[in-house]
Amino acid sequence: MCDGVTLERVAQDHGTPLYVYSAESVRTAYRELDRAFAGHPHRIHYAMKANSSFMIVRLLKQLGSAVDANSIGEVELAMRAGFAPADIVFSGVGKSPEEIERAVPLGLKAINAESGGELERIDRAARARGVRARVAVRVNPNIDAGTHPHISTGLHINKFGVPLEQAAGLYRKMLTQPGLEPAGIHVHLGSQIVTLDPMQRAAAAVVRLAQELRDAGIVLDHLDIGGGLGISYDGSHVPTASEYAAAVLSIVKPSGLAIAMEPGRFLVGAAGALLTRVIDLKDAPGGHHFAVLDAGMTELMRPALYGSFHRIEAVTPRPSRELRYDIVGPVCESTDAFAHDRAMTPLEVGDLLAILDAGAYGSAMSSNYNRRPLPAEVLVDAGRATMIRRRQTIDDQLALETRTGD
Ligand SMILES: Cc1ncc(COP(=O)(O)O)c(C=O)c1O
Repeated sequence: MCDGVTLERVAQDHGTPLYVYSAESVRTAYRELDRAFAGHPHRIHYAMKANSSFMIVRLLKQLGSAVDANSIGEVELAMRAGFAPADIVFSGVGKSPEEIERAVPLGLKAINAESGGELERIDRAARARGVRARVAVRVNPNIDAGTHPHISTGLHINKFGVPLEQAAGLYRKMLTQPGLEPAGIHVHLGSQIVTLDPMQRAAAAVVRLAQELRDAGIVLDHLDIGGGLGISYDGSHVPTASEYAAAVLSIVKPSGLAIAMEPGRFLVGAAGALLTRVIDLKDAPGGHHFAVLDAGMTELMRPALYGSFHRIEAVTPRPSRELRYDIVGPVCESTDAFAHDRAMTPLEVGDLLAILDAGAYGSAMSSNYNRRPLPAEVLVDAGRATMIRRRQTIDDQLALETRTGD
């Protein structure tokens, strides 16, 4: 079930593979985080990269969230979903000239700049239009967040941000760059972080920098502490929103600076499941069972990309002794597998499975590889399931392509 709706029914109505989201789960996570920071000026900027389906973004807007956009496409989508430019921070490791041209005159809360060169390009674009762009420098504090190397961003070996030691110089230079208005400092260590010590150290680094800048006459209005708070994929303990807030606030509160934060996974990760049917079963020598699903890395890439773990449950389990399965997708790649040697009650072709905690970096990363259609999505709210994205068709795909010749 998902909030009173039977998953088997939703799968019959909309087909599989199918993403199903619980609106209530998003609301609960948002309110928990917002309450945890109550008592200190703060703004939650939902990291749209986690899931930018329009109605999910809209739901966050209704809750009072602001957004973190990671491309001009996400900025455009946020504005279409009703966000004011002042509610948007624009991050991203490489912003193209077109993205800068479009972003600068909008009056965003901040463009989170990734290098001295990018600041110069923003300054030039702003001066050419006679405006000042509000900016924050994304600092790279060289702190190990203890997360998977593929989702770590706060080490010097990672491509992100400006080394902390160089940041003060860039802010001082802004005094000579009339197109720039220093608004904040940005730091983001990585994703799926489950220990608070690196978060505290990053917060301390940006607070120290803000104080140094204040002493030099550069007064900022916010510290953007990024996102990254992890969720529990396997049931093990992860920090709660209150523990996270207590850890960060103990460092930031004395500075008096407002906090901007950019959670993605924490808000939507647990709210989504990927429904998929078993389409084939086969046994290999040595008692090895393969269950082939109609969903693969094209719908949920995380296991193939980072070896991530997701719980997988039969929607209607058979009351029988468990077998061990390799649970794999239909895509022509050996990495297209969701789980190896996973204990499951016996499966049959046609069974419906739910891959849990797939709300973040699931649908948002889906692709057309093997000409597979982007999956449909359903949002369940108050006991009603509404399709929020229909399944893509081959005609949708071909609509972008030239088809001359015979
Ligand atoms: C700059 C930035 N902010 C926020 C996020 C969101 O991270 P998460 O979904 O782990 O909260 C990311 C993702 O890595 C990011 O790169």
